[in-house]
Amino acid sequence: MMKLDGKTALITGSTDGVGRMVARQLADAGARVLVHGRDRDRGQRVVADITQAGGSAAFLAADLASLPEVQRLADTVRQTEPHLDILINNAGIGTAGTSRETSADGHELRFAVNYLAGFALTYLLLPLIRHSAPTRIVNVASAGQQALDFDDIMLTRGYSGRRAYCQSKLAQILFTIDLAQELAGTGVSVNALHPATYMDTSMVRRAGVTPMSTVEQGAAAILNLAASADLEGRTGRYFNGLREARADPQAYDDVARRRLKAIALELTGLADRAG
Ligand SMILES: NC(=O)c1ccc[n+]([C@@H]2O[C@H](COP(=O)([O-])OP(=O)(O)OC[C@H]3O[C@@H](n4cnc5c(N)ncnc54)[C@H](OP(=O)(O)O)[C@@H]3O)[C@@H](O)[C@H]2O)c1
Repeated sequence: MMKLDGKTALITGSTDGVGRMVARQLADAGARVLVHGRDRDRGQRVVADITQAGGSAAFLAADLASLPEVQRLADTVRQTEPHLDILINNAGIGTAGTSRETSADGHELRFAVNYLAGFALTYLLLPLIRHSAPTRIVNVASAGQQALDFDDIMLTRGYSGRRAYCQSKLAQILFTIDLAQELAGTGVSVNALHPATYMDTSMVRRAGVTPMSTVEQGAAAILNLAASADLEGRTGRYFNGLREARADPQAYDDVARRRLKAIALELTGLADRAG
């Protein structure tokens, strides 16, 4: 990993799981870490762990199931941070559950938290990220992917937690490829990955699955995209762990990507800003 002294990193969903470990390792490498989550006590514990080890961190609370909270999170970062060098969109909800849930804004919950919130946060922070270039954006997606059904993006029919999760994870990859194209030549790289299969985290335990990988393995893959010198200049890619891989074919479909982006701009109210 590169030395990160003087760099600032925001990692969403770093109160638990692989995000918490990535936050700690980024701080160990010298970065100032913005720890994000919903639970203030757990967030403060992560910050205390980092500062006791000699690192620098602050906690930012926001429920990503609410777009006004995403906006507030972005406003806070823009007001307090002179630069942002690494953004890791990691927060997510897993496959558990059989009944459809919605966000505070009325959108299908996994689409809202796993994809839409990261989309909105990234665009809202983009002026700061561009100004801080060279910078990296990492979208923590999954190998669990399912093509989006544009006739029923909110999954009002045939809902399952797994389908909702896989659709939202593929949506993150479509977003990654699009944004990388939009930011070509700016010094901002954008990549997505499947960190590791069934890491031993709350998400996997909640789904009743026996863990197959360690959190350390997933953290190493995320840190590779966020801070490895080898990744310099590579953008718009999807990785499975440490290796570049192919995502679901829909990720490489320009029309699908344009349709998804138009929907996300509309739903987030960002149409005027991101065009
Ligand atoms: N675990 C795996 O094997 C695996 C495999 C492939 C991909 N991934 C991806 O890796 C990422 C991290 O997964 P993980 O296994 O580390 O999960 P985790 O242990 O459940 O942690 C998820 C994090 O996201 C936060 N979060 C969830 N909903 C939120 C919301 N509405 N607002 C704000 N924060 C929210 C959680 O906060 P709370 O603690 O408050 O819930 C927690 O900090 C996810 O994007 C997941 O899809 C994981």
